[in-house]
Amino acid sequence: MRCSTLLSFAIFSLGGAAALLGEQKVCTVAASGTNKTDDAPAIRSALSKCNNGGRIIFEPTTYYVNSVLNITGLEDVDIDINGKLLVGPVFWSTDIPYWLNHSLPYGYQNQSTAFMLSGNNVRLNGHGVGNLDGNGDYWYQWIKKQPNTSNYPGRPHQITLNGLTNSVIRGLSFFRSQMWTMSIIHSHNNVLEDILVNNTGNVVSSSNTDGANTLFSSNITFSNWTIHNGDDSIALKANSTNISIRDSKLYNGLGIAIGSIGQYKNQFETIENLRVENVQFFNTLHALYMKTWTADQNGYPPNGGGGGLGYAEDMHLKNLTVSGLRGAAFSISQCTRFSGAPGVGNCTNSRFQIRDVEIDGMVGTTKSKRVVSLQCSAEAPCTDITLENIDVKLTNGSVAGDYLCGNVVDSKGWECTGKVCESGSATGEC
Ligand SMILES: *[C@@H]1O[C@H](CO)[C@@H](O)[C@H](O)[C@H]1NC(C)=O
Ligand SMILES: *[C@@H]1O[C@H](CO)[C@@H](O)[C@H](O)[C@H]1NC(C)=O
Ligand SMILES: *[C@@H]1O[C@H](CO)[C@@H](O)[C@H](O)[C@H]1NC(C)=O
Ligand SMILES: *[C@@H]1O[C@H](CO)[C@@H](O)[C@H](O)[C@H]1NC(C)=O
Ligand SMILES: *[C@@H]1O[C@H](CO)[C@@H](O)[C@H](O)[C@H]1NC(C)=O
Ligand SMILES: *[C@@H]1O[C@H](CO)[C@@H](O)[C@H](O)[C@H]1NC(C)=O
Ligand SMILES: *[C@@H]1O[C@H](CO)[C@@H](O)[C@H](O)[C@H]1NC(C)=O
Ligand SMILES: *[C@@H]1O[C@H](CO)[C@@H](O)[C@H](O)[C@H]1NC(C)=O
Ligand SMILES: *[C@@H]1O[C@H](CO)[C@@H](O)[C@H](O)[C@H]1NC(C)=O
Ligand SMILES: *[C@@H]1O[C@H](CO)[C@@H](O)[C@H](O)[C@H]1NC(C)=O
Ligand SMILES: *[C@@H]1O[C@H](CO)[C@@H](O)[C@H](O)[C@H]1NC(C)=O
Ligand SMILES: *[C@@H]1O[C@H](CO)[C@@H](O)[C@H](O)[C@H]1NC(C)=O
Repeated sequence: MRCSTLLSFAIFSLGGAAALLGEQKVCTVAASGTNKTDDAPAIRSALSKCNNGGRIIFEPTTYYVNSVLNITGLEDVDIDINGKLLVGPVFWSTDIPYWLNHSLPYGYQNQSTAFMLSGNNVRLNGHGVGNLDGNGDYWYQWIKKQPNTSNYPGRPHQITLNGLTNSVIRGLSFFRSQMWTMSIIHSHNNVLEDILVNNTGNVVSSSNTDGANTLFSSNITFSNWTIHNGDDSIALKANSTNISIRDSKLYNGLGIAIGSIGQYKNQFETIENLRVENVQFFNTLHALYMKTWTADQNGYPPNGGGGGLGYAEDMHLKNLTVSGLRGAAFSISQCTRFSGAPGVGNCTNSRFQIRDVEIDGMVGTTKSKRVVSLQCSAEAPCTDITLENIDVKLTNGSVAGDYLCGNVVDSKGWECTGKVCESGSATGEC
């Protein structure tokens, strides 16, 4: 690492005078240049030396990250990523066990991460060129051979914002994440913009390559995200409040997800105030889907559970453009149960309620006749579901006309055309 002092001039017009605002300490992270040497210690050291007002610069080169990064306590820092952070393993046969043993747990659903970032007033900027590469091709081939292809204990997320506040992450790309790309927990007042996620495998594709998940977080803005993946594009889970998703393009994944939620017996969790605007969906399964566990507890998280309480409310989506959807544009399933249990879960007994959802403006094409497929709980029916300005056509040009419901009350702007099909599918439909 090289440390130096950069004079940063902020000049503003004061009747012709210029004002010098100050100087900023700069730490440039030295790259070893070889995957034989782990660059994580150099990264940790630079972040620590230039914390509290400094600037950390990653040069336009490749950094090899062969061990977990648990970065905490950042305060008022700029981090410029001009190159590539390639996260090991390099040899999957030897390094996957390292990550499985060392990935950092963050205390929910047994999930863990390769890179934890926390602090306040952090400005992480990839300037449109910086990228983090999870080397996921190794993981995608490996997970296919495992009994748990969904949540494998220790399979790490690429980055976790854990207790990050008043921060901005922009201009970064994330390639082939090991599992979920970004998890956001106990984090508030953050803007995440101009982000590309590409989890398309070069050899095989993988499930559970979510774009982003929010948990116990509020006031998070996703703006101008482009996500190519094979699972939830962006998912809101327990206690996500005031989340906004705008001006984004979602490819091939499952669409915007609410849940899964209701997985922890007797725990009360909520999702409130989601705003979605100007989002385009290309070949995703749904545009919006919601999944809750049933009232019956069956095993424990991450792959089992149920019996949770709470509600998801105040979700407003505007100006959605869909292209070649693969399933119902809007789907609700409250049948999620232990992945190993046979048969269909009880689709009507969930005590988690979904209410006040509005989709105003959805145009485009779909491969499914189903505009909505809402399988709601009889114990806590879905209320106040509003649909306006829907113009979704099948690829042959005819209007998609199925609006299937179970336990939906007070719908506005539309009517149910038939009974929903109940099934154990976590994303709804049969
Ligand atoms: C470093 O990466 C190269 C290219 O991916 C690979 O062939 C080589 O085996 C790796 N070396 C080590 C020591 O991991
Ligand atoms: C992972 O943990 C297991 C059991 O504790 C141990 O046998 C193994 O050597 C560890 N592997 C690595 C790569 O740390
Ligand atoms: C990360 O580091 C912080 C601060 O040292 C520590 O409190 C925390 O336990 C660490 N997290 C993990 C998962 O190791
Ligand atoms: C797979 O998941 C099941 C259910 O959660 C669990 O019992 C089992 O230990 C897991 N196996 C591995 C290898 O993680
Ligand atoms: C949770 O993760 C730990 C270590 O990563 C693993 O040993 C344990 O089996 C996991 N628990 C479940 C229920 O999957
Ligand atoms: C939400 O976060 C943004 C960006 O950090 C901030 O400007 C705004 O004041 C926050 N809103 C609230 C209600 O805290
Ligand atoms: C949106 O983000 C992409 C990077 O994914 C960038 O190339 C593009 O310029 C951004 N668009 C706007 C309007 O800033
Ligand atoms: C995503 O990655 C795949 C596989 O490498 C590649 O074919 C595709 O062009 C990439 N797309 C974008 C937008 O980066
Ligand atoms: C959510 O936003 C509303 C304004 O829309 C604000 O009153 C409320 O305090 C915010 N809550 C959180 C947890 O950010
Ligand atoms: C989640 O939100 C609910 C409702 O506001 C609250 O009762 C609960 O304590 C929250 N849980 C946590 C862990 O913050
Ligand atoms: C609706 O979204 C599309 C695509 O995201 C965008 O081009 C258009 O400007 C948006 N319309 C309005 C009225 O914002
Ligand atoms: C499913 O839950 C409902 C309550 O909504 C209950 O009446 C019914 O008996 C349950 N079905 C089964 C098979 O347990």
